[in-house]
Amino acid sequence: MTQTQLLADKVGVVTGAGMGIGQAIALAFAHEGAKVVVADFNVEAGEKTVAMIQQAGGDALFVETDVSQEDAVESMVQSAVKHFGRLDIACNSAALSRGQGPIHEFTREVFDATLEMCLTNSWLCLKHEVAAMLKNEGELKGSIVNISSNASLKGQAYNTAYATAKAGVNVLTQSSASEYGALGIRINAVSPGVIRTPGIERYLQEQPEQEQRFNNQAVIKRMGKPEEIAQAVVFLCSDRASFVTGQVLSVDGGMSVK
Ligand SMILES: NC(=O)c1ccc[n+]([C@@H]2O[C@H](COP(=O)([O-])OP(=O)(O)OC[C@H]3O[C@@H](n4cnc5c(N)ncnc54)[C@H](O)[C@@H]3O)[C@@H](O)[C@H]2O)c1
Repeated sequence: MTQTQLLADKVGVVTGAGMGIGQAIALAFAHEGAKVVVADFNVEAGEKTVAMIQQAGGDALFVETDVSQEDAVESMVQSAVKHFGRLDIACNSAALSRGQGPIHEFTREVFDATLEMCLTNSWLCLKHEVAAMLKNEGELKGSIVNISSNASLKGQAYNTAYATAKAGVNVLTQSSASEYGALGIRINAVSPGVIRTPGIERYLQEQPEQEQRFNNQAVIKRMGKPEEIAQAVVFLCSDRASFVTGQVLSVDGGMSVK
C-alpha cells in the first residue's frame, strides 16, 4: 500500500521554524510533500532547519524574518510566492513570553511586549498570508494554523500577559475564520499543553524539580513532543480537514480536561 503525502504540491510558510514546535512543523510539512519557507529571526537556527529538510529530500528556503516587522512579514510571504509560485498553507508559531509575575508588580512595558510578541505578530502574519492566498485560483485557497497555548483556556495566575495574548489568538482565529470562510480560506488554532522544546529543556536544567509537575499536568502523565503538535497542524492544513475552520484544538495529553 502506498502512503499518500497529505500536503503534496502545497507551498507553506512556518514562522519560528528555527527550533522547537515551529521546526517540527516545518519538517512535517516537508515530509508530507510541501515546499516550505522557513522563517525565523535566528539565522543559524533557521538555516539548520532548512538543511534538515534538504537532507531528508525535501524542498525549503530560509527567509530571515522578524515577525514583529511588517515589511519583513510581507517579504516572507512574497518569498514563498516568488520562489515557489504561491502560498497555500501557513503556520504562525513564532512567539516569546516575556516573563511571569503578579499583576501589581508587572510593568506596562513587559505586558505590551508580550501582547505584541504573542498576538499582534500573529495578526500581522495572518494579514499578509491571507492577502497572498486570496490570489490563488480555485475555490479552496488556503489554510492557516495559529499556535495558541493552553494558558489561554482558563485564567492562569502570574501568567496574565501571555495567557491574555494567547486568548486573543483564539478569538483572532475564530474572527478571521468567519471573515474568510466563504472566500476559501480555513483558519484554525492548535493549543499545546507542555511540550518538551529547547526552551522547556533550558528551564528544566535550572529547575529540575519542575519536571514531575509538568508531567503530571497531562492525564497522559508526560510532556508532549514537538512532533505531536506538528501532526495536528499537518491535519488542519491538509484537505482532510476541509470542513474544519475556526477551531482551537488542544493537543495537550488531556491537560485541558482535568
Ligand atoms: N513549548 C511549550 O510547552 C508551549 C506550550 C504552549 C504553547 N507554545 C507555543 O508554541 C510556539 C512555539 O514555542 P516553542 O516552545 O517551540 O518556542 P521556542 O522558544 O523553542 O522556539 C521559538 C522560535 O521562534 C523564533 N522567534 C521568536 N520570536 C520571533 C520573531 N519575532 N520573529 C521570528 N522568529 C521568532 C525563535 O528564534 C525560535 O526559533 C509559541 O507560540 C509558544 O507560545 C509552546
